[in-house]
Amino acid sequence: MKNSIIAGVGHFVPETVVKNADLEKVMDTSNEWIIERTGIEERRYGKKHEETSTTMGARAAEMAIENAGINKEDIDFIIFATLSPDYYFPGNGVLLQRELGITNTEIGALDIRNQCSGFVYGLSVADQFVKTGMYKNVLLVGGEMHSMGLDFSTRGRNVTVIFGDGGGAVVVQPTEDKNRGILTTHMHSNGTFAEKLAFISPGAHSGYYQKYTEEEINYGFPQDVLGEVFVTQKMVDEGMLYPHMEGQFVFKNAVVKFPEVIMEAFEKSGESLDNLKLLIPHQANLRISQFVQKRLGLKDEQIWNNIQKYGNTTAASIPIALSEAVQAGTVKKGDLVCLAAFGSGFTWASALIRW
Ligand code: UT7
Repeated sequence: MKNSIIAGVGHFVPETVVKNADLEKVMDTSNEWIIERTGIEERRYGKKHEETSTTMGARAAEMAIENAGINKEDIDFIIFATLSPDYYFPGNGVLLQRELGITNTEIGALDIRNQCSGFVYGLSVADQFVKTGMYKNVLLVGGEMHSMGLDFSTRGRNVTVIFGDGGGAVVVQPTEDKNRGILTTHMHSNGTFAEKLAFISPGAHSGYYQKYTEEEINYGFPQDVLGEVFVTQKMVDEGMLYPHMEGQFVFKNAVVKFPEVIMEAFEKSGESLDNLKLLIPHQANLRISQFVQKRLGLKDEQIWNNIQKYGNTTAASIPIALSEAVQAGTVKKGDLVCLAAFGSGFTWASALIRW
């Protein structure tokens, strides 16, 4: 089997910068609270009626395709990871194909729904296809337009202040070079805590999960409508159509699972943490990344943090950071790079790459 490499990287963030002070104007929050608890100073929001998770993913994909030195018609498989798709269905994969003007209908488009871990899950899928020789140019994209689906009242402040919009992309190709490539990928899940970080309605659950807590019910389970309609007036009136999160519970799990899944990648590949050039964690919260850094004993230059300027861009956060790190010259051929993510599901994952 061949090794797979990331042959091209790209990213896109929308123009509009939203500072913490801007959020102070619409909800009861403060710049100090946001910085102290999350490290976030600002985030970007896409333009309504112009930009979507697909279009931002497409701009990132164009850069990745150019960076890989190929043409869009060379792409033989598309993978799109997002939790903020343009439509409930069809998924963003086909929309991206259309947005890029890829007319080749011989190719497939796969949608990944693993939230913050979506990009690393997608990379693992791409790796398997490329290693086995099935595909030669897999386009993997993470794109998010969170700003269209957040609760900008004080009720939603713990979630809303965190998220930002953007897109990131890579092209995965085979290589003859035995010393380079994706060395190992690891994926995990635990559905027990599915509702701890979730966007529940609209959904086809039809009230099935009414055994859950008052808080969860308030955020999305219809109490008096038994599945006859997908979106009810009650959901609209009571602000159920938003994501919710039990922040501290998610945080406590994240700081355990991040180091675990990173060390799993080193142990399984036989590589030493001492040789790590760069860890790119999913940008969930600067405090989580700092905890992981400390736990693993990494120097500041061994971890990439950009959450301060983009917030948490979920499936897009790792490829945006990776593209920035490559552009900055921090990641070079032969370097050992680790990607790791934890999020809703819960799902968590890692990848170790010899660049
Ligand atoms: O990317 C996917 C994975 N996601 C994560 O890993 C996120 C993990 N969780 C977190 O990052 C943190 O839990 C948050 C940043 C979401 C919240 O920080 P926290 O320190 O856990 O705060 P909390 O939810 O425990 O809330 C503490 C207080 C509460 O007030 P009381 O009850 O103590 O009076 C909240 O109502 O802070 C209040 N609060 C806020 N105050 C000002 C919550 N959000 C805000 C806000 N501004 N935006």
